[in-house]
Amino acid sequence: MSKPAAYVSADYLRKAAELTKTLKLRTYELMDIKPGAQLLDAGCGPGIDTIALAKLIDNAGHVYGIDIDIDKDMLTEANVLAENENLQDRITHQFAEILKLPFDTDQMDACRAERLFQVLPFSIDKEQVVDELLRVVKPAGRIVLADTDWATASVDFENSNFERKLMNFFSETMRPNGYAGRQFFRMLKQRALNNIEIEIFPMMVTDYEQTPFGDWLCSEAIEKGIATRVEMMNWKETLVKYNDKDEFYCTVNMVLVSGENI
Ligand SMILES: C[S@@+](CC[C@H](N)C(=O)[O-])C[C@H]1O[C@@H](n2cnc3c(N)ncnc32)[C@H](O)[C@@H]1O
Repeated sequence: MSKPAAYVSADYLRKAAELTKTLKLRTYELMDIKPGAQLLDAGCGPGIDTIALAKLIDNAGHVYGIDIDIDKDMLTEANVLAENENLQDRITHQFAEILKLPFDTDQMDACRAERLFQVLPFSIDKEQVVDELLRVVKPAGRIVLADTDWATASVDFENSNFERKLMNFFSETMRPNGYAGRQFFRMLKQRALNNIEIEIFPMMVTDYEQTPFGDWLCSEAIEKGIATRVEMMNWKETLVKYNDKDEFYCTVNMVLVSGENI
């Protein structure tokens, strides 16, 4: 199967996990894990969170991680990591499509999905995804959704109109669903879940190389005719210059919304 534009490697996800460490820990807390808990991590990638969650349950509990069948190595790697930690009996990683979860109705005590929604293409109905996640969660079980609101991305660059144009392009074209984070509150409210909570996690990056706004943005913006080669060379040179002087600054908000199933 060919990889979609939004595909990210296991290596990228491990680096990103360092930035989102606090948010990840908070998602686990909000899952309200009890003895014997059955937990789902939807869009689990290389198993960073399934392994962390498996350490929080007892032997009667189980963690299920599902991911799409695009990168076979991703789940192989997740299984190797689970074995290295001797947690293989508590975790099942499997390939599954988000709209067809291979679980019974009301099977899970809690589910989480982190940065899954932003990579879902237009063709996948996000409302149905929420319904499918809620289907497998028991009444009073917890759903925890965390994603980026790329509309809040901000890069210190002298020409703010140009910077806004690039951020809009990134959010709307380079991310399949770049505003995912800001949609969760409404989605859970419309389903009348109980105890809905929202938390915002600002991500600040002062290392240009750690942002997606370098060579990837430059080549896409030129290819799609958003900016000229000269404009993007100026963008890159300016940001690299700031970076070399330890002055580079960029932020974006992650949104965490949780609730209790009805
Ligand atoms: C940005 S990654 C986040 C991975 C992980 N949640 C984390 O925080 O490290 C998004 C993940 O969602 C998975 N994914 C994308 N579309 C999917 C679908 N239709 N069904 C299941 N998983 C999907 C991707 O393969 C990828 O591993």
